Amino acid sequence: MSHHKSYRFQEPGDESVLKLETRPIPEPQAGEVRVRHTAIGVNFIDIYHRTGLYPLPLPSGLGLEAAGVVDAVGEGVTSCLPGDRVAYCGGPPGAYGETHVVAADKLLALPDAVSDEQAAAALLKGLTAAYLLFETFAVRAGQTILWHAAAGGVGSIACQWAKALGVRVIGTAGSDEKLELARQNGCAEVIDYRQGNIAERVRALTSGQGVPVVYDSVGRATFEASLDCLSPRGLMVSFGNASGAVPDFSPLLLAQKGSLFLTRPTLGHYTSTREELESLASRLFDAIGAGDIRVPVNQRYSLDQAAQAHRDLAQRKTTGSSILIP
Ligand SMILES: NC(=O)c1ccc[n+]([C@@H]2O[C@H](COP(=O)([O-])OP(=O)(O)OC[C@H]3O[C@@H](n4cnc5c(N)ncnc54)[C@H](OP(=O)(O)O)[C@@H]3O)[C@@H](O)[C@H]2O)c1
Repeated sequence: MSHHKSYRFQEPGDESVLKLETRPIPEPQAGEVRVRHTAIGVNFIDIYHRTGLYPLPLPSGLGLEAAGVVDAVGEGVTSCLPGDRVAYCGGPPGAYGETHVVAADKLLALPDAVSDEQAAAALLKGLTAAYLLFETFAVRAGQTILWHAAAGGVGSIACQWAKALGVRVIGTAGSDEKLELARQNGCAEVIDYRQGNIAERVRALTSGQGVPVVYDSVGRATFEASLDCLSPRGLMVSFGNASGAVPDFSPLLLAQKGSLFLTRPTLGHYTSTREELESLASRLFDAIGAGDIRVPVNQRYSLDQAAQAHRDLAQRKTTGSSILIP
């Protein structure tokens, strides 16, 4: 095979900018590995890249996450061999394709207990859940936390995991079906945030105390209500913008709402060394192997349906994880 199919886009825009092209297969350079994909993860960040909310140098490939087998290795690579089952999540974008070349030190060997589809559906989202639950704020059994979009990709994994750690999770979601899924994901309490009054309802569920941490990936639509759900000196973890970016605000707001802390973390800063990446990945693979996390592969699309996958994710039609099958 000398050519393969992969997506590129020339300018930011709606789904129509995504073009599936037939291109020469790239050769891995020193320290790099070519992976032949069997399953590709779809993530909300792919939409931010496509629309330009997170600008990329263009033209660019798209997609950060896939699983498959090692196809070819560049000079000096000793950590894997052709035929090994592997997965990765991280740049450079280009996972939406039949193959992709990535740095060898970003690849993870897949244990037998984790299928290719599970890996593509859970690696980026599960590593995110791991750093958020263990490092950004180390949750403890008996605590009550608030997790927005509890039936989504990251939310489904994180809520199951938090429940397994003995945490009482209040989950939000935007439809009756999703609220039921949030319960199945281990949320002890669920809130339909389309009805408003999130803070009042969180206070009612916590004897007026509020929660020590809010995990908010919805962004603009929920940011201020999330601050109102926190107990004094609580931590607001703003880790996404599904409804749009959070507008500028004065730090005085944090004082007025209870000497709050705010962080805006990204996965890259928690997996910048090989040691950090392996440590979070082994936590994730162990939790999947132990059955603490069922990986929700709820939407499967063929590679040529990436535009549809983006529309469904942006229009809140999906639950759990979405994957593309090349
Ligand atoms: N910072 C990091 O390190 C990091 C890493 C990975 C992911 N993330 C972020 O985590 C979030 C979840 O990612 P994901 O890929 O798993 O997506 P997802 O949660 O499966 O999809 C986003 C969900 O957000 C909710 N939502 C609320 N308002 C929305 C709106 N106006 N438009 C679209 N969706 C809206 C929807 O659920 P309801 O219908 O229930 O409201 C939707 O299903 C994203 O914001 C992503 O950027 C951050």
